[in-house]
Amino acid sequence: MIRIRTLEQYQTEYQKSVNDPEGFWAEQAESFRWHTKWTQVLDWNFRQPDIKWFVDAKTNITENCLDRHLPQRANQIAFYWEPNDPKEKQVEITYQQLFDDVCRFTNVLKKKGVRKGDRVCIYMPMIPELAVALLACARIGAIHSVVFAGFSANALAGRIQDCSCCMVLTSDGAYRGAKDIPVKQVVDEAIAECPTVKNVIVCKRTQTPVVMKPGRDTFWHEELVDVSTNSPAESVGSEDELFILYTSGSTGKPKGVVHSCGGYMVYAQYTFQNVFQYNEGEVFWCTADIGWITGHSYIVYGPLLAGATSVMFEGVPTFPDCGRFWQIVDKYKVNIFYTAPTAIRALEAAGLDFVMPYKLDSLRVLGSVGEPINVEAWEWYNKNIGKEKCPIVDTWWQTETGGILISPLAGITETKPGFATLPLPGVQPVLVDEKGQIIEGNGVEGNLCIRFPWPSIIRTTYGDHERCRQNYFATYADLYFTGDGCRRDEDGYYRITGRVDDVINVSGHRIGTAEVESAINMHVDVVESAVVGYPHDIKGQGIYAYIICVNERADVEQLRKEILAEVTKIIGPIAKPDKIQVVRGLPKTRSGKIMRRILRKVAEGELSNLGDTSTLLDPAVVDEIVAGALK
Ligand code: WT7
Repeated sequence: MIRIRTLEQYQTEYQKSVNDPEGFWAEQAESFRWHTKWTQVLDWNFRQPDIKWFVDAKTNITENCLDRHLPQRANQIAFYWEPNDPKEKQVEITYQQLFDDVCRFTNVLKKKGVRKGDRVCIYMPMIPELAVALLACARIGAIHSVVFAGFSANALAGRIQDCSCCMVLTSDGAYRGAKDIPVKQVVDEAIAECPTVKNVIVCKRTQTPVVMKPGRDTFWHEELVDVSTNSPAESVGSEDELFILYTSGSTGKPKGVVHSCGGYMVYAQYTFQNVFQYNEGEVFWCTADIGWITGHSYIVYGPLLAGATSVMFEGVPTFPDCGRFWQIVDKYKVNIFYTAPTAIRALEAAGLDFVMPYKLDSLRVLGSVGEPINVEAWEWYNKNIGKEKCPIVDTWWQTETGGILISPLAGITETKPGFATLPLPGVQPVLVDEKGQIIEGNGVEGNLCIRFPWPSIIRTTYGDHERCRQNYFATYADLYFTGDGCRRDEDGYYRITGRVDDVINVSGHRIGTAEVESAINMHVDVVESAVVGYPHDIKGQGIYAYIICVNERADVEQLRKEILAEVTKIIGPIAKPDKIQVVRGLPKTRSGKIMRRILRKVAEGELSNLGDTSTLLDPAVVDEIVAGALK
């Protein structure tokens, strides 16, 4: 696999990847262990869509993450695990230990009857067993579906039902900052409505008392007694599913994004090595949770495929204080640090007193992901964390893309604050106007699409291929539509401006406005609601909800609390609205469509220039909304 080292080489590689994509990716794929080679590198169309990479090849991603490294790296650390509480002892896991743990756990899964193609739900905190769980599933060809452990029982149940999981892997509880979360209890509540779940394996973390259902629930450590480490990796097809990860869209329930084995594997390692320019012996730290795609690709698969050493952190950036990230950087001498703008802004707001005690001199590369990074946060990160010596890679990508698509290569691509800069080799971005016409040239803005498949592109949405087509491939013919707006400046650099659909990005988490609305509407007193995003200093975007009630309620504060509780119950705390305005009507057109443009403006605090309201059924509702707008 090529490791790009200069800008000229990037340009040559980029050209190669466009002129001869198959030759280019075949070359990158050579260094992996394949049980059977491909008969064709790529077979695709974006109409159905039907995309196959490394056709007919067989492999196992865990053999490439683990077995292949053992001759040179058995005693190298794969993960430094840092617990939530800094007073608790860290754990160091070598490649050999990780290999043994994964193999043993595959035998537990097999003993429980899990087979190739079965779906296994993983709802766990950031403990080493979480990484083991993903890898053990992959090793036997079972499809993992990780659900972030902050989602509610209701949200978890929906995800388990959607892909009919046969098993749930979980923990007794979770430590997150000062909180102690009853994880198993959430699982119990969820699977009361999930008849497909035959077994639950519970890893003990907090010693929180749990109810174990006989015949269904067992403890992780008890399952491991007398289990062999002998576990040859299952041979899986390049296009067999590796995992499902649910994500929110502009309409309906979250969809299960499906990634397949071969292409995802090649792309995860390629992007990890090239974007971060990881060098032998360095320590990498991605602060995401494995419950999101960032954790899948850049905590588990990418770094392990590259034979890297990384940090896995259980806690939060603000516990026990806002210096925690920097304390961990110094503790493990982290060289490459990858986090989200929301964390940067929160730590910036906490003040430099939390940064000053730490040296941070091991840092060589800084990364950003999840949302547009504002120039101020970029500058602060560059100056106070990178000491103006570390290139910042602002990596743009999505759950659906599997890996980073637009990003600087650390130390190679000249950076510009707020810009994700240039596409990686193999990635062909285009900007289109409303009609789908491709906008050529530089100094332009449009909707961001990709016109050629890269190896880790979404294959389908689980159980509903038509939804995948509709969502990503039908807006513009023969293009993958990202849902993002984007500017290409005079230098051809890309700057992502944010979502152009009804998706909001709160602290780097994707939240569908329709989902929040339907949760709010569950409240007995609410008739209708409309949710929009607005700029938020720390979270990037905040959630602003307009609600219409059946009966006017005097106790608005109490009503607000009840709605927050409702949203927490249906989705989880991350989707709680920041502001709730009670209104008597919503601005609708004569055909009944809510004019969100107006609601967005009011939420942004833009109360005068509301644009054309002449098509509204009842323009008076706008005056009322403006009068009651929340600061
Ligand atoms: C959406 C995808 C990709 C991992 C985490 C989020 C936004 C992501 C950037 C960036 C500007 C970004 C986009 C994208 N986004 N990275 N560097 N600059 N925007 O994954 O939950 O699938 O969300 O996050 O709007 O579409 P996700």
